[in-house]
Amino acid sequence: MRSFSGRDILSLKDFEREEFFRIFEVAKELEPIARNRRNSDILANKTLVTAFYQPSTRTRLAHEAAMHRLGGHVTGFADAKMTRAGDFYQESIKDTVKMLEFYGDVIVMRHFQQGAPQEAARWASVPVINAGDGWGEHPTQILTDLYTVLQEKGRIDGLRWLAVGDMRMRTMHSLAYALTQFDCPITFVSPPDMSLTEEFKAELQKYSLNFTEADHVEKAISQADVILVEPVVQPDYTKSRQEAGEHGLTPANYKITRELLSSKAKSDAILLHSLPRMDEVPTDVDITRWSRYWQEAFNGVVMRMSLLALILGAME
Ligand code: CP
Repeated sequence: MRSFSGRDILSLKDFEREEFFRIFEVAKELEPIARNRRNSDILANKTLVTAFYQPSTRTRLAHEAAMHRLGGHVTGFADAKMTRAGDFYQESIKDTVKMLEFYGDVIVMRHFQQGAPQEAARWASVPVINAGDGWGEHPTQILTDLYTVLQEKGRIDGLRWLAVGDMRMRTMHSLAYALTQFDCPITFVSPPDMSLTEEFKAELQKYSLNFTEADHVEKAISQADVILVEPVVQPDYTKSRQEAGEHGLTPANYKITRELLSSKAKSDAILLHSLPRMDEVPTDVDITRWSRYWQEAFNGVVMRMSLLALILGAME
């Protein structure tokens, strides 16, 4: 297995099976620190730099919380408008990271351009973590989801997935790449104009992912052990920001309701949503036995603790 020390986390493509399990193993070891709401000194001399060119609640703050739990420091920006990248100068990624690398020991970047974290990693002398790039990938979110499955179901292999939402989403790309390393058949349900591209499907076939597509959640939910939902009513991820405005409602084909779960889902299936949500998972689902999104929130901190400890060489 490759060492994580000093490594960029840009994509789950070509991430090896043992590497997933090593991250989950370290997460389990560090979990009591977060569970007991204590801070440790594992990364006492290290600093995380957050470079967020798009809005975020969970991903940025979970990385920051993880760093605090490990005793490290945090600096950075949550709105590129307040930097030279977001004003008259439109400073390049290269020029920006050639500064940021001296302000800390690891950079976590979210960007509206697909490939921006890869460009940052090309120039930075410190590791770069992809916190979501355009429609590209969102590796730390899917690591969180897989860790949640392992925690909740005790295994990953042998579980059947249902993924509902916009298949252009970065989370869906990371999910599909990740599942190529496990024995996990998956059914994708999306609106036709948001379906997997032919190019991406060809790539998944090359990786032997066992996948099918369906046009309505009702057709696939009864077989699913893990139901992962993302919105189909959502902003354009290639834009730096979109304000709230007029939007439609989620069609029944892509909605997970309490009635649907009660009548069709396995009684021990689990429901994941990375959030934020629109109306695709109504709030009355929160208080059912299927929902696990609040557990995902906690696991999101623990999983980033694991990644930071591994990348910064505190754990091997
Ligand atoms: N799930 C997710 O990426 O949330 P944020 O956009 O709030 O970081």
